[in-house]
Amino acid sequence: MSLIADLPTPALAALRISVQARLDAFRAEGLKLDMTRGKPAPDQLDLSNALLALPGNGDYFSAAGEDARNYGNLQGLKEARALFAPILGAPPEDVVVGDNSSLALMHDCIVYALLKGVPGSPRPWSKEASPAFICPAPGYDRHFAILEEFGVRMLPVAMSGHGPDMDAVEALAADPSVKGMWCVPKYSNPTGEIYSPETVARLAAMEAGAPDFRLFWDDAYSVHHLTELRHEVSNILEACERADHKDRTFVFASTSKITLAGAGLAFFASSPANVRWYLACASKRSIGPDKLNQLRHVRFLRDVAGVHRHMDAHRALIAPKFAAVIKALQRHLAGTGAARWTAPEGGYFISVEAAPGTAARVVELAKSAGVALTPAGATWPYGNDPNDSNLRLAPTFPSLAEVRDASEGIALCILLAAIEAQSVQRADSAA
Ligand SMILES: Cc1ncc(COP(=O)(O)O)c(C=O)c1O
Repeated sequence: MSLIADLPTPALAALRISVQARLDAFRAEGLKLDMTRGKPAPDQLDLSNALLALPGNGDYFSAAGEDARNYGNLQGLKEARALFAPILGAPPEDVVVGDNSSLALMHDCIVYALLKGVPGSPRPWSKEASPAFICPAPGYDRHFAILEEFGVRMLPVAMSGHGPDMDAVEALAADPSVKGMWCVPKYSNPTGEIYSPETVARLAAMEAGAPDFRLFWDDAYSVHHLTELRHEVSNILEACERADHKDRTFVFASTSKITLAGAGLAFFASSPANVRWYLACASKRSIGPDKLNQLRHVRFLRDVAGVHRHMDAHRALIAPKFAAVIKALQRHLAGTGAARWTAPEGGYFISVEAAPGTAARVVELAKSAGVALTPAGATWPYGNDPNDSNLRLAPTFPSLAEVRDASEGIALCILLAAIEAQSVQRADSAA
């Protein structure tokens, strides 16, 4: 197909009529499809059903003989910490295993930092005039929602294809009011990018204006590969230690998209001082985590090789869904200039850059055609996408047949919105 921008006006008008007709036909099918949230599908959850029968046989004792049914051990069972330590890139003694949500740990760390400060803080973050965070965008809406909730200023920084634009990050981090930064280092939500070794080295080494600056390193997709390639990201904790910034990073992860999204394990890993700080704060909040669930996970996944085997089974279920979306986008949009999209090698999202000024219109068109998309702007701080162009597609939850259908509709909506925008632009310049 030719570039929409190059089409003579009569051809543009004819294309608009034909795409509109195809979208009307799609709408007439009366489908109800949802591509809004990155949730595992039921068949993915089924992969972990064996957990439901564990720990089993009345054997609820840890290797050290703790009764996992009882209170205590805020840091988590040693065997659970040892199992996930290599994935987190920290020694087991610097790992905390929490309950089911890493987002909850991130939320709590922000709240503790605001109320009490972190190791090295001259005062609690909330006592600073206007604490701020660097927010690579497009990014994860729930990260931004935490900061918005507590009034932490958000400073968007563009993504480069191998992590955030580091020149911009270094310039912002030099400001003492900038206290931290969100990072999703592997298969970033939503762009799927992987932080390069240079990005990691610069994040670890950069001069921060605030003595208590923290990287919130959300490794949500560490083992969530969509190809046979198990990409690695440089170890941020080691890089920070080498750069003499050993307390700079809080690492977060969870098994939400490994085992059960509502009943997995969440992890915090960091320097010894940060782990002590976290446990001291958390000890006022809980007498201990769900250690039965930790035992279940250890007995089910067994070791890192077991985690990888399990993730291969996820990949077999979801990679075809990503391929279906990309195929539809390719078929309808390649060569039109209406959009660019990612082909992620892991994670849960496809990110589409639609024609500038059209993302909200695409979401509206899709809704009227029976396809629910994440609201336009959601991937930006304050819901404000300055170009109104980013769309986040989440293909894991619907069935493959539904993903195929939805992708057809979405591609048509993106195309129609771009044609409409081009038509308006021409009318404006003719006026
Ligand atoms: C980047 C990122 N972090 C965290 C989460 C949620 O993690 P959890 O289920 O451990 O709270 C998600 C879920 O989509 C995510 O995309």
